[in-house]
Amino acid sequence: MEHILELARARRSVRSFDGGGIGAEEREKLLAFAAAIENPWGLPVEFRLLDAAEHKLSSPVITGERWYLGAKIKAAPHMEEAFGYSFETLVLYAQSLGLGTTWIGGTMDRAVFGRAMELQSGERMPCVSPIGRPAAKMSLREIVMRRGVRADWREDFSALCFDGDFSRPLNETEAGAYAEPLRAALLAPSAVNRQPWRIVKDGGSVHFYCKHAAGYVSAAAGDLQKVDLGIAICHFALCALERGLPLRFSTADPGIPAPANTEYIAGYLPE
Ligand SMILES: Cc1cc2nc3c(=O)[nH]c(=O)nc-3n(C[C@H](O)[C@H](O)[C@H](O)COP(=O)(O)O)c2cc1C
Repeated sequence: MEHILELARARRSVRSFDGGGIGAEEREKLLAFAAAIENPWGLPVEFRLLDAAEHKLSSPVITGERWYLGAKIKAAPHMEEAFGYSFETLVLYAQSLGLGTTWIGGTMDRAVFGRAMELQSGERMPCVSPIGRPAAKMSLREIVMRRGVRADWREDFSALCFDGDFSRPLNETEAGAYAEPLRAALLAPSAVNRQPWRIVKDGGSVHFYCKHAAGYVSAAAGDLQKVDLGIAICHFALCALERGLPLRFSTADPGIPAPANTEYIAGYLPE
């Protein structure tokens, strides 16, 4: 998979599909790619492609879908970030094959999807996604939904990225070699498009934080905003890797004073 920034730019949530489904060969490709996906937390994510008709799967916001991408992970600290990272890796790969997806953590019947995934106690399924070819035209519901969450809008670079500590905004020029990976991170999808990531570049290190809002935590899904952080970190890391930036992953809180409700998640340090 190449050109992560381009894939991140081209991806959008697809809620209207063409009804044609995806062929056996493509499904095999997706599953082979999925089986090799790793995340920096080292927590395995199990993926399945689920036939919507066979398992009676649907979502009130999705039309024309024939397949769902399901995934589950063992309940553990950092499972949300790990899940977000691994699932988004597959989302970007699907994008590279011309397939559309939508992260779904709310608008679904969890019991039905849980049965289809054979979810065991001790396992969690924070999100699922329909997967297939986008329809030629968006459904009215999709158009209304995109407007409701201002889906095409992303917060300015300098509103979310900081230099050294949270008191100094970082601009793209100052970000140097990290500008593109950071741009890729800021294009990430997030629950209700809240974009909860806050990022501090401290010299050669980049630290990711989550600015928590109320209403995103449940027993079944965990903290959806931490899933969002895993997604943004995935975009950053895959783009940095592609550019050959020598970085190593870290979960050691650097101790930078953070604003209220803003939790350190993980970062990358120079190698
Ligand atoms: C963790 C997570 C959960 C989401 N849950 C839903 C959902 O339940 N239903 C839905 O229609 N979209 C859901 N979305 C999609 C977001 O609304 C969408 O990514 C955001 O509005 C940005 O739009 P874009 O993906 O087209 O860039 C979710 C996204 C994420 C990352």
